[in-house]
Amino acid sequence: MGRAGFGDWEHGTLPAFHAAPPVPRTAPVGTREHPLPLIIDSDPGLDDALAIGLAVARPELDLLAVTTVGGNADVQHCTDNALRLLHAYGRSDIPVGEGAPGPLTGEVVRATAIHGESGIGRTRLPPSPVAAYPDGAVALMAQILRESPVPVAIAPVGPLTNIALLLRVHPELASRIAHLSIMGGSIGEGNTTVSAEFNIYADPEAADIVFRSSVPITMMGLDVTHQALLDGNAARRLRKLGTGSGSIAAELVEFALDRERAWYDAPAAAIHDAVAVAHLAIPDLVSVAGYHVEVDITHGPARGRTVCEGHPRRLSRSGRRPNADVGIHLDRGRFEEVMVDAFARLP
Ligand code: BDR
Ligand code: CA
Repeated sequence: MGRAGFGDWEHGTLPAFHAAPPVPRTAPVGTREHPLPLIIDSDPGLDDALAIGLAVARPELDLLAVTTVGGNADVQHCTDNALRLLHAYGRSDIPVGEGAPGPLTGEVVRATAIHGESGIGRTRLPPSPVAAYPDGAVALMAQILRESPVPVAIAPVGPLTNIALLLRVHPELASRIAHLSIMGGSIGEGNTTVSAEFNIYADPEAADIVFRSSVPITMMGLDVTHQALLDGNAARRLRKLGTGSGSIAAELVEFALDRERAWYDAPAAAIHDAVAVAHLAIPDLVSVAGYHVEVDITHGPARGRTVCEGHPRRLSRSGRRPNADVGIHLDRGRFEEVMVDAFARLP
């Protein structure tokens, strides 16, 4: 194995990691002429709320539904947030289906310390005139997948419980999923434990089912989502849009920034979930590499870790093949423009 790309390593020492080679993206990308049909499965959530706004705004995406899962906050809060956000973004016609309140097995994990008890910080939104889809998230996803004339992409940006249930209850619909653009996991450290990122840690068994499913996957993990930053200046730009949606976005970012400053002394907040959505609308915002991703479902210190194998020799020795594109690099300067531009299109 050559050392190209590891220029600083002393002769004779081994690098601490081997980066997998970049690969062309396998995720589909929508266009204005042919918007990509999309379902967002989420736990709004500060960054989820921004990701939903992005999906509503981008003409390359046709957002068909938002389904919710217990994660950042209780699922009832997440459902209510999704309904109110879509109403505020001018799209209360997009159906919302409530999904799993907690993981397939094991303890419920929440992130209310970051996102607030309601999930969307101190933001208060008027109620939506519509109610959630009566039969729930899995039935809503199944109906859309069954009825769509073309395969539908899903951006799961919360714990993967609903997606695992969908694949188990309706295995015949797996081929109707064009792609799963997942926010979750990490090649490197986690953010909930040193090993695990929140969405995977909150339901490792579900994530294990999904990564073994053979459905085409892009994993936007912390390695790339920590490059998707908005700071105080971005919040000011969003507020200056002078619209309801712009104010909501500014308030969500400001709440996230308060936590970042207090906890990490950091000047910017990562808008993780928006990366999984943006990848489906913009062909060249994120570069990816091919990895075999396996989820640790043991109960030791690595529970919920996404073990990412990208070394070609080890892959061929074990007979494994990459099962996911993994996000590596994001065009940081462009990310802020993408988000401000999106909210400028909303009411
Ligand atoms: C992920 O965890 C949640 O708290 C965020 O909404 C995001 O989906 C980041 O680890
Ligand atoms: Ca989320």
